[in-house]
Amino acid sequence: MQQARVSIDPAFVVAPVNRRVFGSFVEHMGRCVYTGIFEPGHATADDDGFRGDVLDLVRELGVTTVRYPGGNFVSGYKWEDGVGPVEDRPTRLDPAWRTIETNTFGLNEFMAWAKKADVEPMMAMNLGTRGLQEAIDLLEYANHPQGTALSDARIEHGAKEPHGIRMWCLGNEMDGPWQLGHKTAEEYGRLAAETARAMRQFDPTLELVACGSSSRTMPTFGAWEATVLEHTYDVVDYISAHAYYQLDGTDHASFLASSVDMDRFIHQVVATADHVGARLQSDKKVNISFDEWNVWYLRELQSGQGGLPEDWTVAPRTSEEAYTVLDAVVVGSLLITLLRHADRVTAASQAQLVNTISSIRSEPNGPAWRQSIFHPFALMSKHATGEVLDLRLDAPALPTAKYGDVPLLDSVATYDAGEGRVAVFVVNRDPAQAVSFSTGLRAFTGVELLEAVVLADDDLTAANTQDDPDRVVPRPHPSAAVTDGALAAELPPASWSMFLLGVQ
Ligand code: AHR
Repeated sequence: MQQARVSIDPAFVVAPVNRRVFGSFVEHMGRCVYTGIFEPGHATADDDGFRGDVLDLVRELGVTTVRYPGGNFVSGYKWEDGVGPVEDRPTRLDPAWRTIETNTFGLNEFMAWAKKADVEPMMAMNLGTRGLQEAIDLLEYANHPQGTALSDARIEHGAKEPHGIRMWCLGNEMDGPWQLGHKTAEEYGRLAAETARAMRQFDPTLELVACGSSSRTMPTFGAWEATVLEHTYDVVDYISAHAYYQLDGTDHASFLASSVDMDRFIHQVVATADHVGARLQSDKKVNISFDEWNVWYLRELQSGQGGLPEDWTVAPRTSEEAYTVLDAVVVGSLLITLLRHADRVTAASQAQLVNTISSIRSEPNGPAWRQSIFHPFALMSKHATGEVLDLRLDAPALPTAKYGDVPLLDSVATYDAGEGRVAVFVVNRDPAQAVSFSTGLRAFTGVELLEAVVLADDDLTAANTQDDPDRVVPRPHPSAAVTDGALAAELPPASWSMFLLGVQ
C-alpha cells in the first residue's frame, strides 16, 4: 500500500479560519427559492411561508453567509418588483433561466429568512441591464434608517429596521457572453468603479466585490481581472472567482483532482491582483470571494437534456443534481482547498443551497433531505475552527489526464488553541487504491483521538434520495488510531476523512 504523511505544527499558521468561507447561495433559479426555502402552505412552513424543515437543515449545514438573488438572474432583475404589497408585484419573464418570476419573494422576504437562518446576507446588484442609479437606490432602500422616500418605503413595506447589508457584489459574471448586459473588462471596470465609489459615498465601510472570471477557462481570464482591478483596486475589497466541476466519462482520477484546478485558479488570481497592486504602488490587498463553486453537471444543461425548459413556467426543476459519493469527495476536496488559502480566500459561497445544484433537496408538499455533499460541508463548518495551519505534505503522485501528476492527497488542518483541538481533513484522490496515512504531531503533547469519520463507498455512484435519504453518510473510521502521539489511518480509495484530535 502507498504511504503518505502530513506534518502539522502550530507554529506555521496560514490565517485564522474565516467563517465566511462557509457561505452559500440562494438564486431565483429552478426551485431554490420557490418550494425550496419558501413554500407557504407546506406542513412545516411558518407564518412567513419559510419551510421549517429546510431552515433546520440550513442551520445544521453551518452556512454563514448567503449570496442573493443571483447569479445570472440578477443581471435582468428589478429589485423594486420584489418589494411592497405582494398583490401589486408584477409577474415577469426571467430570460436567464427561461422562467416566469412571480416576485412573491423578494428582498424583505430574503432578509427575514436570513435572520431566521442566522446567516449574513451577501447582496448582488444588477449591473447588466441596470447601473449606478438603481444600485444606490437599492442601497438607500435597504440600509438607510428612515426619513427618505426609499427608506420610508421599506418601513411601509414592513421592514422597520434598516437591513444593514455589508457585503455587495457589483454585478455577476459580467465577463460571460451569456450574461444579460455582458461587457468588456474595460466597460465593466469603469461601471463597477463608479458604482463602488458612489456606494462608498453613502457608506465607506461596505465590503464590495468586483466580478472576476466566471471560470479559469474563459478566454479573457487573467486579462479580465487585471483590467477590472486597474479600475476598481482602491474601491473594492474582493475580486470574485467562480468554478464548477463535473465528471467526464469515467475519468475519476481527474475529477478527484478538481481542486488542483481550483488551487491554480486561486494562485493566478492572487498573482494578478497583487501585480495590479504593485503597478498602482498600493499596499492594500484585494482578496478573493470564491462566490460560486461546486460540482455541477452543466454539460447536461448545455446539451438540452434536463436543461432549460422550452415553456415559460414558474420554478421548474432545473439542475436538480442527485449527488453521488464521488461528488461528495470532490466537494470535500474543494472546501479543503478554499480553507487552505484562508489568507487570500476570505469569502466563498457554494452554489447553491436548496434543490438547484444544492446540498439540500426538498419536494413540494414533501420532505427535505441532505444530499451526499451536505456532509463534508457541515462537518468542516462545525469543526474547522481557530487557525488554518500550513501543512507539509509528503505524498506520492497520482497521474491524471487533465492535470498531469498531482499529489495523491489533498489535506488541511486547523488548530483551535482555546479548545485544545486539531482538526485534520484529508481526501484520497486515488480512485482505485487505499493509502496508508500518518501525521507528524511532534509539537503537540497529550494527543488523543476524539473522532474519526470517513465518507467512502464501494459504490461511488450511490446517492441520497427521498426514499433513502441516509444512503450516503460519513461513518466511523475503521482503522484510525493515535499511537505514541501520531495519528495513523488507512484512507479508502476516493474518500474524504475527518480526524478530530485533542491536544495540549
Ligand atoms: O449558480 C448557477 C449559475 O452559474 C449562476 O446563476 C451563474 O452566475 C453561474 O454561471
